[in-house]
Amino acid sequence: MELQFKRHRRLRQSANMRALVRETYLHKEDLIYPLFIVEGENIKNEVPSMPGVFHLSLDRLKAEMDEIVGLGLKSVILFGVPVEKDAEGTGAYHNHGIVQQATRFIKSHYPDMVVIADTCLCEYTDHGHCGVVEGNKVLNDPSLNLLAKTAVSQAEAGADIIAPSNMMDGFVAAIRKGLDEAGFEDVPIMSYAVKYSSSFYGPFRDAADSTPQFGDRKTYQMDPANRLEAFREAESDIEEGADFLIVKPALSYLDIVRDMRNEYKLPIVAYNVSGEYSMVKAAALNGWVDEKAIVMEKLISMKRAGADLIITYFAKDAARWLSEQ
Ligand code: PBG
Ligand code: ZN
Repeated sequence: MELQFKRHRRLRQSANMRALVRETYLHKEDLIYPLFIVEGENIKNEVPSMPGVFHLSLDRLKAEMDEIVGLGLKSVILFGVPVEKDAEGTGAYHNHGIVQQATRFIKSHYPDMVVIADTCLCEYTDHGHCGVVEGNKVLNDPSLNLLAKTAVSQAEAGADIIAPSNMMDGFVAAIRKGLDEAGFEDVPIMSYAVKYSSSFYGPFRDAADSTPQFGDRKTYQMDPANRLEAFREAESDIEEGADFLIVKPALSYLDIVRDMRNEYKLPIVAYNVSGEYSMVKAAALNGWVDEKAIVMEKLISMKRAGADLIITYFAKDAARWLSEQ
């Protein structure tokens, strides 16, 4: 009796045959590169838990931007690390705040670069929370006004996209209203709509000096055990005016990326966060994994899961590797 079976290997027999049937691609245009801008002069300090990621002062930004542009990247997301912090996160919405200055600099020298401003208070508050604090509570509504102010000052500095990451309820509504009233109705909101309370943010908090001084972020960021809650978060953000939806972190949440892609029509952004970066770096520096192969596999898996865009600390490396192919 003859065996009956399918020959899947027919379509895998050569590189060109495999290319012919490849379903998913990663493009440089998909990648968004995060930058940490610090106050001070002549600073380019590597973040200890994030090898290859640096704190940059404004005077060192030009060389970095030349490299980014040279690699063919088209967008950056900016995080500010101020020297002075206070209870209300004043540095976040100051005209001459560090992100506002960096935005002005980039937009004046690289007008085509898409500058995305992360809108949150935790890098600027002395307590390290993403909103206003009273006792040991993070207050929702009093935080909204400050977030809207932050977004408007970022738009005034020339930010092309506002990316609020604070997870207060109503932040998209408040920011949309603030932007519209200030004449920025054309500035889109890339909402961190689905943001889990994750241990994978650890290295970022070293980089941004934004570890909460008491408690944790579980009263505003999502429980990793929840899926339906992601739909509720995304839905309200869309109603309030979000133009992009971010799912964060990426790798442990690819099911959620797929859910969001299937359910909604907005561009879906996966945030390949700091812990996901540092774990690969640590293994690669030990010679335990092939960094390029691992990174490209992770990035294509995010695309396959349905991400249109990826925020990643590997953006420069990936751009380089894509050019080599
Ligand atoms: C600030 C913010 C965080 C990240 C992006 N924006 C940290 C946090 O919520 O604690 C994490 C990014 C990363 O880990 O790469 N709200
Ligand atoms: Zn925050």
